Amino acid sequence: MERKKNISMAVIKRLPKYYRYLNELAKNDVDRISSKELSEKIGFTASQIRQDLNCFGDFGQQGYGYNVKELLYQIAGILGLNKEYSTIIVGAGNIGQAIANYTKFERMSFNLKGIFDINVKLIGLKIRDIEIQDIDNLEEFIRENKVDIVILCVPKNRAQGVTDLVTKNGVKGIWNFAPVDLKVPNDVIVENVHLSESLMTLSYLLNEQELD
Ligand code: NAI
Repeated sequence: MERKKNISMAVIKRLPKYYRYLNELAKNDVDRISSKELSEKIGFTASQIRQDLNCFGDFGQQGYGYNVKELLYQIAGILGLNKEYSTIIVGAGNIGQAIANYTKFERMSFNLKGIFDINVKLIGLKIRDIEIQDIDNLEEFIRENKVDIVILCVPKNRAQGVTDLVTKNGVKGIWNFAPVDLKVPNDVIVENVHLSESLMTLSYLLNEQELD
């Protein structure tokens, strides 16, 4: 499969949506789908879909469409979902606990291996059989267990300190929930999740509608 380099971020951001819809189709035993049918389901134009998927190789066949399972498999590979990731949560408050309780990430190959906090009232409690550990154990835990991703759920004034600590110990991926722009070495990837930004977009769109 020939994959082009420098794929735009816009295309990459659309891939999880393709993955989600194709997963549903595969679960419903749909074997193949045309770009037109996929377009009706996903809401992207058929030409957009063809263009997007062409960035990663020659998936579709003229007159046949896409083989759902094959395309799903390829997209999972492109998204890196064909391997396992060890994750830990740092900060076991509201968000940290909610994420720890969400089992679906596990089915997507993100395995939760540890949860850490500084609050003595939380240390020792269990979430889904995983004991919340003292932050003092963090460095040793990362060194002993190959941790790929840290899910960062600490207050914003603690986020950079935790980031420095985990990246110093070899963590390369940070899923950051704290509302702060983290400084990281070049080989570390940070993906920020800001629910409030999404909410502000919603409020903008609601207000724009009222202007019409
Ligand atoms: P929380 O106060 O319930 O939990 C934070 C936890 O971090 C506490 O259990 C605290 O003991 C722990 N903690 C503090 N310093 C630590 C350290 N150095 N090492 C380990 N644990 C430490 O807060 P909540 O509501 O869970 O929010 C967590 C973060 O997410 C905050 O930065 C908040 O601003 C942010 N947030 C992000 C949202 C988003 O859309 N991304 C939405 C809401 C909050």
